[in-house]
Amino acid sequence: MYINKLKLRYFRNYKELDVEFGQGYNIIYGDNAQGKTNIIEAIFLCASGRSHRTSRDTELIGSEENGYYVKLDMFKEDRDSSIEMIFEKNERKNIKINEIPVKKIANLMGHLNVVIFSPEDLFIIKEGPSERRRFIDITLSQLKPSYFHDLQQYSKILLQRNMLLKVMVNKKELFDTLEIWNNHLIKTGSRIMKVRNEFIGIMDVKAGIRHKQLTNEAENLSVRYVPSFNVKNMYDLNDIEESYRKTIEAAIKKEIIKCTTLFGPHRDDYDIILNGMSTKIYGSQGQQRTAVLSLKLSEIDIMKEDTEDYPVLLLDDVLSELDNNRQEYLFENIGKIQTFITCTDKSFFRKADSNAKFFNVVNGTVVKGIDSV
Ligand SMILES: Nc1ncnc2c1ncn2[C@@H]1O[C@H](COP(=O)(O)OP(=O)(O)O)[C@@H](O)[C@H]1O
Ligand SMILES: [Mg+2]
Repeated sequence: MYINKLKLRYFRNYKELDVEFGQGYNIIYGDNAQGKTNIIEAIFLCASGRSHRTSRDTELIGSEENGYYVKLDMFKEDRDSSIEMIFEKNERKNIKINEIPVKKIANLMGHLNVVIFSPEDLFIIKEGPSERRRFIDITLSQLKPSYFHDLQQYSKILLQRNMLLKVMVNKKELFDTLEIWNNHLIKTGSRIMKVRNEFIGIMDVKAGIRHKQLTNEAENLSVRYVPSFNVKNMYDLNDIEESYRKTIEAAIKKEIIKCTTLFGPHRDDYDIILNGMSTKIYGSQGQQRTAVLSLKLSEIDIMKEDTEDYPVLLLDDVLSELDNNRQEYLFENIGKIQTFITCTDKSFFRKADSNAKFFNVVNGTVVKGIDSV
């Protein structure tokens, strides 16, 4: 799949942008704070229904405007299609695919698949479990709309169950209600955990292969799922459900005291391990960057295998952070993928051949697209 055109109206610092992209590298260059990442953000928004930088659509509206409009024309499975995002202040966001309104964001998932790689991705390694969950949730939601639906349901269930736990003290009559929420929690939560476990298992293999290649066989990267409770066979949904129920039953007193749900996918994590040691604790900055690159490349591999098509790759400000070898490896390995690259220095791309199109971003406009450096 690839993106042909992007149209922005009152989106961030773009009043009006109409731009046509190439099928290879699209190099978006310019000084800082001119609007390069805003273009990446608009593309990501069309893929996932939300920005990668904020959960608030109002932030995306151009200053002093009342709404934004984004339209993306793309080519997928031998035909043209389009995605539109229409947002007005105080209203629900309107999404259209091929001009037809889409009722749920879940129905948008999988239409345009993207892999995004930005400096903040180092958080996957450096920060807490929620950053790591976010990474796999974004990928899995694109691959499996039913997973995205389960995630949405799960967070609603969690909210309700936690509210109930807060008022449970000394109210035995509420135990029946709790039982209902327990059932929902276990059903939905177990499905999420099963999918995550499978995904992490595949990522372990694929990222391991990529990492070996990136480090000339010097380093072993592996990824291990760390669920919030033990399950004998993570591939068996019944097993997960059974263990989940036992765990909750054993923890109920504690949960009532703490007024919160202590076990389930919202407490999941996974370890990223280099040569048997935690990358977070023992990895150097360079090793951590390479590990993230391996994870991202494995994400592309998984998407390609799952959908039989290449996703679109968004590289926001990451090239300057990779050394020459890693850059070369990256370019050798993204050959057939439409790629959007933002950078401040286009001379970086002397090698980037005829397959590249250049866009100079200056203060919310694309000034010119020269075709070679
Ligand atoms: N809602 C908004 N309305 C108008 N301008 C905005 C809005 N949000 C961000 N900006 C402007 O966009 C610019 C940053 O764009 P960005 O794409 O992040 O820059 P960069 O080129 O460094 O990637 C800044 O000048 C900022 O003031
Ligand atoms: Mg930027």
